[in-house]
Amino acid sequence: ARGLVVAIDGPAGAGKSTISTRLAENLGYLYVDTGAMYRAVACLVAQRRLNPDDEESLKKLCSDVRIDLVATAAGLKVYAMGEDVTQQIRTPEISKLTPLVAASPAVRAAMLLLQRQLGASGGVVLEGRDIGTVVFPEAQVKFFLSASAEERGRRRYTELQQKGINVDLHETIAAVRERDQADMNRTQAPLKQAADAVVVDSTRMTIDEVLVLMEDLVRARE
Ligand code: C5P
Repeated sequence: ARGLVVAIDGPAGAGKSTISTRLAENLGYLYVDTGAMYRAVACLVAQRRLNPDDEESLKKLCSDVRIDLVATAAGLKVYAMGEDVTQQIRTPEISKLTPLVAASPAVRAAMLLLQRQLGASGGVVLEGRDIGTVVFPEAQVKFFLSASAEERGRRRYTELQQKGINVDLHETIAAVRERDQADMNRTQAPLKQAADAVVVDSTRMTIDEVLVLMEDLVRARE
């Protein structure tokens, strides 16, 4: 068996991270969470109090930026310039800042280079928004993982409830729809299905069912 490049794209809340992590584990592949990389750059922007609209300062930041992803038993650890930012990248502040930082051409160019290096020798699962379309258009296996906005909103709602955070279900679904629109309509690397992607609609599927389907497909092409 040879190690393939597996691209997994799709909207927020489709279960991409859970599925990508487990798929990479089962295949013995490297897992690259590209969203975490953009979030790590956003941490640096926040720490240095840079303006995400100031392309010149982002360009300077990217000229010697270092982002590392390290797989551990406890999950993926994320480092920015050698500092562990695993916790910080999930804060609401960074979640809000990341799309602004990810819109910068200099940031996207730097992350593209890094992502291509990480995938260069194959045996890798890359998860994001533009992997099958921009980063690895030649990936041997491409998935577009989706689910209805209602279902993704419901999943998010349940997740928050379990954490003891009270939100309104209808507002949560509306927020998912809003984020879909923003992701699809932006100019820099909009969320788009690759023509040759295998579309997996997980609306009525369990995580295990999705995983089996995807793993079988990858193994058939190895
Ligand atoms: O996937 P995640 O929610 O962690 O991604 C955080 C943000 O990073 C997204 O909202 C998007 O703005 C950006 N992103 C991107 N391109 C990718 C992955 C993430 O622009 N390939």
